[in-house]
Amino acid sequence: MSSEMLLFGGQANPPLYKKICDYLNIDPGHAFVGQFSDGETRVELKQSVRGADVFIIQSTCEPANHHIMEALVLVDACRRASAKQITLVTPYFGYARQEKKSAPRTPVTARLVANLMEAAGISRLLSLELHNSALQGFFNVPVDHLFAKPVFCQYFQEYGRIDPKQLTVVSPDAGGVERARALAKQFCCELAIIDKRRDRPNQSAVRHLVGEVSGRDCLIVDDIVDTGGSLVNATHTLLEKGARTVRAAITHPVLSGPALALIREAPLEELLVTDSIPLSEEALACKKIVQVSIAGLIADAIRRIHQQTSISSLFL
Ligand code: R5P
Repeated sequence: MSSEMLLFGGQANPPLYKKICDYLNIDPGHAFVGQFSDGETRVELKQSVRGADVFIIQSTCEPANHHIMEALVLVDACRRASAKQITLVTPYFGYARQEKKSAPRTPVTARLVANLMEAAGISRLLSLELHNSALQGFFNVPVDHLFAKPVFCQYFQEYGRIDPKQLTVVSPDAGGVERARALAKQFCCELAIIDKRRDRPNQSAVRHLVGEVSGRDCLIVDDIVDTGGSLVNATHTLLEKGARTVRAAITHPVLSGPALALIREAPLEELLVTDSIPLSEEALACKKIVQVSIAGLIADAIRRIHQQTSISSLFL
């Protein structure tokens, strides 16, 4: 007999959790997720999960520490209540950029977070556009890694924003080349790469541009837009090198610090992001920012994991 599928959500992204439930035509799990008076995380499952196939939806976005703790406590509650399988779904996986020692005597925090998730009792992880695919190796349990590419492609096809003959897909740094190449292949268009250096945290500078962008419509593709520095520097560089237009498709809208002010000022036509992280009122009011939903993609992956069928076709 197959086990019952149950979904629970943390407080990081309620609208996305609701949409995923709607796609799956399933009621949100009955649970209290909140805080004690002193700020400690408080979780209480209000229904049985014994023998169930549980999915916990939680983007570990800002405030990352709080949302990670909430995910861990939810997993612990489900494990102690005898769930059969617990899949943690992190549409945005915080701390992913700290995946190696960037200098002597610095931590590898992404690995620490992976260890904590396993110690809490996850059976598997489902995530989207991890900063580095090698993060899968930080886990001993299976990791299913989705990409936003199908959702972005669908948007551009529906709204006809792209003429592949005029288009150059641009990676704003060497680390993102694989991602940009995959989209360029999909559109059968040119690829360009920016050589970005980061001498200090949250500050980046463009060094070189590899590829031809003069007279082209450029599409910058990245995993994260955080302070907006990488995106805005890349935009200026492309226009200085003669690009006709610049737009961007970036999966996770972290949008911290000066990001919105920079984006509003930048000569960027459009910034396409997903709903892996909820947008602030200010970001929603920014006309350049367009948000597409990854709820259907994640719901599809959850359904396939539950039915134990392949999800590899979703990677394409
Ligand atoms: C870095 O390698 C990432 O792929 C992003 O380019 C980066 O995190 C964006 O950060 P920011 O918006 O602060 O420049």
